[in-house]
Amino acid sequence: MICPTIRGNETGQPFCPLMTHDQGGCHDGNRAGVRLRRDFPPLSRRRVHLIALNLPRALSTMAKNCRGVVFRRKAHTLTAKQLSIRNLAKRFSGDIHALRSVSFDVEKGEFLVIIGLSGSGKSTLLRCINHLHEPTGGQILLHGQDITRPRTAERRQLRSRVAMIFQQFNLIGRHTVLSNVLMGALGRTGTLKSILGLFSAQERKRALEYLDLVGIADKANIRADRLSGGQQQRVAIARALMQKPEILLADEPVSSLDPATCHVVMDYLKKINRELDITILCNLHFLDLVRRYARRVVALREGILVFEGDPKEIDQEWFRRIYGEETQDVHIE
Ligand SMILES: Nc1ncnc2c1ncn2[C@@H]1O[C@H](COP(=O)(O)OP(=O)(O)OP(=O)(O)O)[C@@H](O)[C@H]1O
Ligand SMILES: [Mg+2]
Repeated sequence: MICPTIRGNETGQPFCPLMTHDQGGCHDGNRAGVRLRRDFPPLSRRRVHLIALNLPRALSTMAKNCRGVVFRRKAHTLTAKQLSIRNLAKRFSGDIHALRSVSFDVEKGEFLVIIGLSGSGKSTLLRCINHLHEPTGGQILLHGQDITRPRTAERRQLRSRVAMIFQQFNLIGRHTVLSNVLMGALGRTGTLKSILGLFSAQERKRALEYLDLVGIADKANIRADRLSGGQQQRVAIARALMQKPEILLADEPVSSLDPATCHVVMDYLKKINRELDITILCNLHFLDLVRRYARRVVALREGILVFEGDPKEIDQEWFRRIYGEETQDVHIE
């Protein structure tokens, strides 16, 4: 199969946004060239003949590979990748391929937005990164360390390094705002201590500071269910910050909010991204928000990464490629 879209990503690694791992193709074709050299069997006359015939192609494949490797190593030392997603796949029962060989890198301090139609795999991707789903293929690397399938002991530690907020906030409504935020320390203080509400004065101080950071320190002693949607999402952000994460995953954090409140919440995400240097991976639906807040965008279509780049590059043609011919951009003020 000829791939019309093979190109290099930021790291120089060749990738094809339209080709799945299962289908073979560009990546596998390239790797086959390397394997040929490594697993070279004893030569027979027939084999020598076959190799001679295929030599030009094999050499060009190897050259491409070498170029990729050298460039990737150089890029790695210059801009250390914080998170690397490598050929990530997730298949649910019923043969639903939610993710197909998705690969991209994230640098520390980035504000990366993931877009795509409903059902394209955005939530599945974030849930795999946060170990709420177990990938069925590929790798997730955090600072080069493989965290795809952590042991139970490691899982909790990883969950505190990579925090997550959700569309529906997931607060405990009958608890105060402050105790909801303190729950975020659960990954670090231990479950029993958290259940008994045994938080240190320092943790309480930190919780109030984070509430202040998202502009609702005055609501600390109010029941969480008395707050508006936007305020509840800000509490959820403060709770996530209690984990002292290095990465914050946000799964459609503003989808249930009105346009004005969307911007308030997105501005707070931008603030913590800039001021606390926390990397953000955020799923969004509205392209207006994407253009305003994203530093970089990856787009999924039916579980395949089809675009990776600057939000400004998403013109009408890319919009149609990402969302399909029949969709229309909806604007949000
Ligand atoms: N737990 C699950 N079991 C089975 N299939 C699932 C599960 N979660 C997601 N899927 C399927 O995986 C695919 C991707 O779903 P996902 O929720 O990741 O999409 P999404 O891009 O987040 O969509 P939306 O924008 O509507 O939130 C869909 O076909 C969905 O039906
Ligand atoms: Mg989703």
